[in-house]
Amino acid sequence: MDPLEPIRRVSQIREFTSGVVPDEAIDQLLELARWTGSSKNTQPWHFIVVRDRETLRKLAELRPNINWAAAAPVGIALVLTGEDAHSESYDEGRVTERLLTGATMLGYGAGVAWFGEPHHEAEAKRILGIPESRQARQMVLIGRRKSTRDPRPTGPPRGRRPLSELVSFERFGAPKR
Ligand SMILES: Cc1cc2nc3c(=O)[nH]c(=O)nc-3n(C[C@H](O)[C@H](O)[C@H](O)COP(=O)(O)O)c2cc1C
Repeated sequence: MDPLEPIRRVSQIREFTSGVVPDEAIDQLLELARWTGSSKNTQPWHFIVVRDRETLRKLAELRPNINWAAAAPVGIALVLTGEDAHSESYDEGRVTERLLTGATMLGYGAGVAWFGEPHHEAEAKRILGIPESRQARQMVLIGRRKSTRDPRPTGPPRGRRPLSELVSFERFGAPKR
């Protein structure tokens, strides 16, 4: 089997079974996240593990696009220092991908939920007690995968563009010789 196949198959999960995600699994994911590379090794992140049903419900209510998050067993909210938006958004993407991939490799599924507009982010910070100066854009929801379905009435199509549309050789736009 292609050793990269398990990573290639990581997809956004929005429907979870009621199965528990034990603390040990969350600890493993946090350890994986902690070792993510970051700009100048600043490690600008902080993670909030959220299991409280009411808190998850309130966060999921911020925007219809993330309502599925209310039924997830556990979420990890990402908090950045807010000191360098440019590099921290890159770092945040890297650490998020580790959480998604790690959860999948442990036999779970995970999905990203962006809080949304600045006023949604402000409300998420209030709910989670995050200082205003910090950046908090999203949480990653984790659970046993029930399906890969997107339960929302309007979501992006699945699948990916072919490599032939994405890659050039030696110079932009040049095909492989
Ligand atoms: C920056 C970013 C923000 C996202 N925000 C949301 C979101 O708010 N709600 C949601 O259901 N999915 C969200 N997603 C998930 C994307 O819709 C998903 O990655 C994309 O559709 C590909 O899904 P697939 O890998 O399962 O094909 C987000 C993904 C990224 C990278």
